[in-house]
Order: sequence, then C-alpha cells, then structure tokens
Amino acid sequence: MTPIFPEQSVAVLFSGGDSPGMNAFLRAIVRLGLNREKITVLGVRDGYRGLVRTARALNGDAEALVRLKKDIATHVGRAGLISEQLHIIQMDHASVSGIMGKGGTILGSARCLEFHDKEVRAKVIHLLKGLNIRALVVVGGDGSLTGAKLLEEESDLRVIGVPATIDNDLQFTDMALGVDTAVNTLVWSVDHFIDTARSHRRVMVLETMGRESGDLARMAGLASGAEMVITPEAGPLTAADMQRLAAKIEGAMTRGRGHAIVLVAEGVQFEPQQKRNRAYVLMEAFQEYFQRPGAPFPDLEVRPSVLGHLQRGGHTTPHDCILAARFADCAWKTIIDENGRNGVTVLRKNIVEIVPYGTADMPERAAFSQEMEQLHEHLSSW
Ligand code: F6P
Repeated sequence: MTPIFPEQSVAVLFSGGDSPGMNAFLRAIVRLGLNREKITVLGVRDGYRGLVRTARALNGDAEALVRLKKDIATHVGRAGLISEQLHIIQMDHASVSGIMGKGGTILGSARCLEFHDKEVRAKVIHLLKGLNIRALVVVGGDGSLTGAKLLEEESDLRVIGVPATIDNDLQFTDMALGVDTAVNTLVWSVDHFIDTARSHRRVMVLETMGRESGDLARMAGLASGAEMVITPEAGPLTAADMQRLAAKIEGAMTRGRGHAIVLVAEGVQFEPQQKRNRAYVLMEAFQEYFQRPGAPFPDLEVRPSVLGHLQRGGHTTPHDCILAARFADCAWKTIIDENGRNGVTVLRKNIVEIVPYGTADMPERAAFSQEMEQLHEHLSSW
C-alpha cells in the first residue's frame, strides 16, 4: 500500500528546558487527535530547531517537499522516532504508549537562537503551510511561548501555546506543566538532606532552580518543612543580610533546634555581585558568622549543594499528568473551533481555558507568593 501523507494535521513541538509532563501532554494530544478528532498529529523533534533544520534542508524546493511528505508517511510512529534524518514524525498510538509518567520528552527539546531571526521564521511558516498544518502547538516556557506569539503574528497559522516549565514563572497561569513534579522532587531531596543534617547537626544550603522566580523554592519550602527559604523577589543580599539570616539560624539552635535546611533560589543576587553559585556564597558567609569570636556554636558546620538538573527529571506526578490531559483537551477544542482564538492554555482557579498571547500577569499570583512566604515564616519559626 502506498503511504499517504495526511491531508491535514496538527503539529506539536516541545521547546526550551524540558519539564515533567511533556510526555504526558504528547500522549494526550496524539490520542485525542486519533481517537476523538480523527486528525493526525505530527511530532516535531528538538523544538523549533527541528522545524528550522527541515525548512533549511528543503530550501523552498517543491520536489523536496514531496519527498519529505513521502518520508514522513513511510516512517510512521516508532520508525520515525528512530530515524536519524527525520525531524517531523507522524505519531501513532504505539509511539506514545508507555510514556505518560516518564520525565523529559521523547521528541527532544532545544533552545533555538536562530528562531529569533524573522527570515528564519518565514521559512518555517512556509514549511508548515506546505505540510498543510492546521495548527501548531508549542509546549514550553517564556521564550518558547514568545516564539509562538511571533509565529501567529507573522502568519495566518493557528498557533496554540502550552505553559511547561518547572520555574512557575509564567504569571498568567496558576501552574505550568512540570511544577508539581519538580516540587515533589525537591521535597524528596530535602528529606534526604534532613537525614544527614540531623545526624551531623549541620546546616545544609540547597540551591534550587527557578530562574528569576522564587516560586519553586517557596513551594518546596512549604511542602518540605525546610527551615529557611531565600528568594530573589526581596532584592539582592548584602553581607549584613546574610549575617541576619545566619543569626536567625543560630537563634533557633539556641532554642534547641539541631539542624537547618536552607533553600536558596538560583535567581537570588548579591550586593556586591558574586560569580559563584548562591549555595557556596551563603555557605561561606554563614560559616564565617558561626565561627566569629565568642559564637555559641563554633563547631556548627555548613554544607552547600546545587541541586541542578535533578529537579527537571523523574516520574511525573498524577497532578501533572492530569494537567497535561486538560491542557491537551483545551488545545484541541480551540483548534477545531472555527472561531477559536489563538493563545495559551492556562489553569486559573482550577479552570483550564485559553487566554490571548501577551495576557497581563495575574495580581493574585504575586499575592499568593507573598502569602506562601508569610505562611512559611510562621510554620518554620522555632
Ligand atoms: O527554565 C528551566 C530551567 O531549568 C531553569 O530553572 C534553569 O535556570 C535553566 O532551565 C537551566 O537551563 P539549561 O538546562 O539550559 O542548563
């Protein structure tokens, strides 16, 4: 039987730093497409980079486009996933089987600087039209969704964005995909550090991800019971600020506390600026304070750890799997609606909906962050 390239399809790509829940989203968008909407999904490998490379290879050549369509149609599902050359894969049921709870993305993700170039985007638009794409779904964080916005502004394509980043720094949605899993991973990590901190009566300074946002650290602090959370929103830390924080830990020790877990978000800055990781800067400042002449606990040791990419992987939580399914459902409903708006799927007050690109930040988000910080302060005081 001659392989047939679908008359119309929806393309999906994952862009920027990966986040847990991306695979669950892929499974949901593909299965809803095949089972409910009867529309095929094309998976793009390595985010925008996959589109850029394909567009470059075709270079506007109509015959090359015909060959590409044939290639895609002859390498459906897993055959496409194992092909070295193909960046666009026609997804089937089997290709998304068994992936729901797995972290990362089987299609790969990338940051693509070339996509900042308007001419490059024009080539990508030409490619997507040549492939009869009904809509493009872009799953990722801030930069990736900006790319989606530009694509929709520069073409008549339907482009739907889906927020996915462990940073939870997108202020127009209560939660992005992957945050819940990352918080779980952080709670798991803190539990491990507590065991050894307690045994040695130590202070552990753990650096979390989150870019300029302290949300991930704040949530992990509340959920893990870490004694202290330091976030960037309060402004840069001076030497006096660090002494004040160390004094707080020392005070708790005087009142009987045996150890302390300090979470510091990677966005935290110092005055004067420091090049080293935050956990190390704080470790030194705290250690110096604890060992000052006449200090009550001169033997109190501080150990730093930068948790890094550990936070991006791992088994996806049920909350993220459910959110992935709801975002996929919302994306499909918008795509098949002739009057459906372009925009980004969001979660607000437990309702999933589409909001236009460039939607303003929700004031509730900042208020919630503040509330979390105060709540943590009250819960962790000793
Ligand atoms: O945006 C997600 C994130 O994990 C940030 O928290 C972190 O700063 C960054 O990506 C790390 O990026 P990379 O994987 O490119 O090192």
